[in-house]
Amino acid sequence: MKILGIESSCDETAASVVEDGRKMLSNVVASQIDIHAVYGGVVPEIASRAHTEAICGVVENALLQAETTIDEIDAIAVTNAPGLIGALLTGLSFAKGLAFSTGKELVPVHHIRGHVAANYLVHEDLKPPFVALVVSGGHTSLMRVKDYTDYELIGCARDDAAGEAFDKCARVLGLPYPGGAAMDKLASVGDANKYKFTAGSVDGAEYDFTFSGLKTSVINLVHTELQRGRVMDDEFRADVAASFTAALIKTINTRLELLLSREGAMNIVLAGGVAANSHLRRAVSETADKFGAKLYLPPLKLCGDNAAMIASQGYFEYLKGVRGGTDLNAFATKSV
Ligand code: KG4
Ligand code: ZN
Repeated sequence: MKILGIESSCDETAASVVEDGRKMLSNVVASQIDIHAVYGGVVPEIASRAHTEAICGVVENALLQAETTIDEIDAIAVTNAPGLIGALLTGLSFAKGLAFSTGKELVPVHHIRGHVAANYLVHEDLKPPFVALVVSGGHTSLMRVKDYTDYELIGCARDDAAGEAFDKCARVLGLPYPGGAAMDKLASVGDANKYKFTAGSVDGAEYDFTFSGLKTSVINLVHTELQRGRVMDDEFRADVAASFTAALIKTINTRLELLLSREGAMNIVLAGGVAANSHLRRAVSETADKFGAKLYLPPLKLCGDNAAMIASQGYFEYLKGVRGGTDLNAFATKSV
């Protein structure tokens, strides 16, 4: 069964064809990073307009690269939540129009479930149940995946997501948006013990995350140091990046360790844009090893937003009978 996936929840316009939820036939991503970089972050209205301009060509390319035509597509899966509402509506409206005009069925997909599904495309043996940790620009969520379409939230970010914290810290260090990957490289050569940063915890919600305090303490430290005459050189950037990364990873790992110590070995899936972070990958691998858990990591090219993950999850939603009509709406927030 061939599913055409469409994703436009943030700053990537993406389309992909996936067969039976596991085999990626094409994966086209048009990134808007260059457009938003001048503003230091995503400008929602500009994102919506850029999606509108890109979507036809991206979908055409996805069909072409999959050596298929719209006639051979069995259903259209589209991200309808969560994300920037204007951006989501662009992809959703396109998908609805395409489904209506071609008589195909439409399947709404939750973006976070999509990130998890990126792992189905590369790990043939991966099947629920497992615990998933999605760490991205917009989300930090620890979830129990009981079945392909049955999710239970264990903990999530109460304020900034991990990726957002990465990008804002990168910005104060003068790195271009999005700075996560640059922070990753800098952290590899910096001294993680140079600055003492900590991420807070949420009273009464031991699995939840809060990164805005950590982000603010990094920003304050940088401003204070610069006011004291510290030069913004590579050594300073690297030490801040390493110290910040260590604190962020510690808060993620503490929650994972707590879960594993209570519930024993289990299968764990890491996903989301920040899952590309080499330090996070290593730390979570070590934790999994320590508890005898099996860890599934997405390949770097499927960590960030893409539509193959949406087509994959769309397949499982389709099998479950999930469908969207012409009245299907988009939602900026939606529980997983
Ligand atoms: O999943 P994603 O593409 O978008 C959302 O759904 O939010 O994640 C994008 C985020 C950005 O914040 C970016 O800086 C971050 O992922 N990111 C990284 C790395 N690569 C991308 N953060 C840390 N280390 C990386 N290597
Ligand atoms: Zn995402």
